[in-house]
Amino acid sequence: MRVTVVGSGYVGTTLAACLADAGHDVTAVDIDPGVVAALNDGHAAIHEPGLDDLLAEHAGERLRATTEYDGIPDADVTFLAIGTPSREDGSIDLGPLTAAAEMTGEALAEAGATTANADGDDRHLVVVKSTITPPAVGEIREALAAGAGDAADRVELATNPEFLREGTAVDDFQHPDKLVFGTDSDWATERLETLYEPLLAATDAEVPVVRTDPETAVMIKYANNAFLASKISLANDLGNVCKRFGLDAYEVMDAVGLDDRISAQFLRSGVGWGGSCFPKDVDAIRAAAREAGYEPALLDAAVAVNDGQPERMLELLDDHVDAAGERVAVLGLAFKPGTDDIRNSRAIPIIEGLQARGAEVVGYDPVATANTRERFPDVEYAESAAAALDGATAALVVTDWDEFAALDDAFDAMAEPVVIDGRRIVERREGLVYEGLTW
Ligand code: UDX
Repeated sequence: MRVTVVGSGYVGTTLAACLADAGHDVTAVDIDPGVVAALNDGHAAIHEPGLDDLLAEHAGERLRATTEYDGIPDADVTFLAIGTPSREDGSIDLGPLTAAAEMTGEALAEAGATTANADGDDRHLVVVKSTITPPAVGEIREALAAGAGDAADRVELATNPEFLREGTAVDDFQHPDKLVFGTDSDWATERLETLYEPLLAATDAEVPVVRTDPETAVMIKYANNAFLASKISLANDLGNVCKRFGLDAYEVMDAVGLDDRISAQFLRSGVGWGGSCFPKDVDAIRAAAREAGYEPALLDAAVAVNDGQPERMLELLDDHVDAAGERVAVLGLAFKPGTDDIRNSRAIPIIEGLQARGAEVVGYDPVATANTRERFPDVEYAESAAAALDGATAALVVTDWDEFAALDDAFDAMAEPVVIDGRRIVERREGLVYEGLTW
């Protein structure tokens, strides 16, 4: 099939590369000439394992990038993978996506009609990959129709949410747990089925396909992320209770996770969830619900618990040392291991809390130092965890990088060996004043 992917960010680039790899003829469209040049050169503006290999293999052949929308009428399907930034109240800003939908419609209208594909079908399917709320679907549908003008009856909108995780995006795309097709017609569903057919044929697993309407499909994405984020917050809430009782939340939740109805995943309590998806998506669906007249109490509480975990970690520190004027190490700055992304990382409120206490913060992360330096230029950054611990009065462990499990003697160089572990990654050992956040 001929596919256009508008937007070459994290989701769009992964989608374009994986669809080209599945045998489709893909054109990536982005307004940034630098991003376009990089893609045509066979590499991505983002770091994601396996992505550059796919781009290098297909760039210039099954995958091309351009800043222009004019190739859209020649495609069978156009995906919109444009960012939806958060506004102050947590709702998403649809401006860039609406503009892209309108320009896509205009490109189709300018061609007079969409170009017929091999089957002589001149209808065009526009699929929203971006995460948007159910009420936003109608807005994008309208923008597309407004751009398309007289050609509007030959253009249809669908939604096809994406569940990929940072760090495993390519693998998640190629081996999905499920596919969700939100369409208004059998024609659109069949087109999506044809598109994904080679991908599904390449995996051994039986992938469930959910066929529904566009609004339900996007709600599934929000419900999915809201559930996972709330699951962690519930584990954290129960973990805080365990800590008060002097119990180990990991022992408790490991046993709870043996119940098939619950599952063992996303029960790791600690300093909470961050990243580009959970905080933004939970806020967006809360804002949309509020707008529709409903206050989602449980989601509000999930956010409150998450916001409270860094503060609880700092309170545990206060129980042991007065951080004012003291050197305090922050181990781990990324929002999770395997990425240099610090968006909504729990390290941010931790560093802010330490600075508010007048501590001398020394941060360490295997890959996220450069991003954190932009945000906190005044913080000292160490070249290794051992260097960060050297002379420190206390250490706060914020990201569960594997290397923090093997620090051993490095703690001996601390001025006072106080370790507050927010991720249960450091081993308790003789001579260490160790405090787990929920154990
Ligand atoms: C998430 C969803 O998993 C993905 O389906 C969606 O498309 C985007 O959001 P991602 O943001 O890449 O993906 O991160 P994920 O691996 O899910 O972790 C999110 C956060 O939860 C991290 O900060 C992680 O440290 C935290 N987490 C995860 C816990 O605190 N405890 C757990 O048990 C699991």
